Amino acid sequence: MVENRIEDKKLFLVGVGPGSSRYLTDVVRDVIRKSKYLIGYKYTLSIIRDLIIPNFHQVYEVTMKNQDETYNEVYKKMRENEFCTIPFTGDVNFSESEVVDRLLEIFGNDKVELMPGISSIQVAASRAKVPLDKARVLSFHITEDIEDKKRELVEVIQDKKSVVLVPRPWNNSTEKNFMQSQIALYLKNEGIDTSKLIVWVFEFLTTAEERVFRGKLNELEDMDFSAMSVLVIDQVRRKTYLEFDRDYF
Ligand SMILES: C[S@@+](CC[C@H](N)C(=O)[O-])C[C@H]1O[C@@H](n2cnc3c(N)ncnc32)[C@H](O)[C@@H]1O
Repeated sequence: MVENRIEDKKLFLVGVGPGSSRYLTDVVRDVIRKSKYLIGYKYTLSIIRDLIIPNFHQVYEVTMKNQDETYNEVYKKMRENEFCTIPFTGDVNFSESEVVDRLLEIFGNDKVELMPGISSIQVAASRAKVPLDKARVLSFHITEDIEDKKRELVEVIQDKKSVVLVPRPWNNSTEKNFMQSQIALYLKNEGIDTSKLIVWVFEFLTTAEERVFRGKLNELEDMDFSAMSVLVIDQVRRKTYLEFDRDYF
């Protein structure tokens, strides 16, 4: 018997890309089509709006505040052979674990299938031409303490690695923000020469409002960016295969 058959699963946690429905994969489209229940934040639901069938799908728009209630309500409502899909912006496996872990708890690990999507991080890395295997990918968009991650950021930059990160916007408390301007000031105070580092900021990736800023890290001190943004600190040193042992080929 094949274990983990997709038909046995009740809940699909799927990445739907950073904004444009053109970044939705076909396998994710398929599970959305067969799921009676769809639960998501406003922005994420808007990415899949063209797939919603009014007489079939039951759609729940949630916020960070009321989501737990809805997840429990739908879990209780669901019958055998019914499916629920929860779309996540970008990739479900990047910077979503606080919600994913709660859903594994409610629905049970074996009833949940995760399906990857294209992350805002991947799109930003592509736009900046920064290879992810030579960069450190960091998310500050978490509610837990970020002090360790901030120190890691300093070390990675001192190690001459590139960084691709999502900053931390915080709704009601600006002192918890760790947006581009705070990042630039923090790194300067940690002794990094921010006037030398090349940065990119990508806002609203893959949407009609997409914008890019390219400059030096110290320029970010006085700049405001949307919460929907990715920061790339670009320390790439390009090396082609011509520089390495050619006996390999
Ligand atoms: C909780 S994290 C989720 C990241 C998501 N799972 C991903 O893979 O892109 C949310 C943050 O991702 C970044 N993000 C998501 N979509 C974006 C987009 N279209 N353009 C720029 N940044 C985006 C923003 O920094 C946003 O605040």
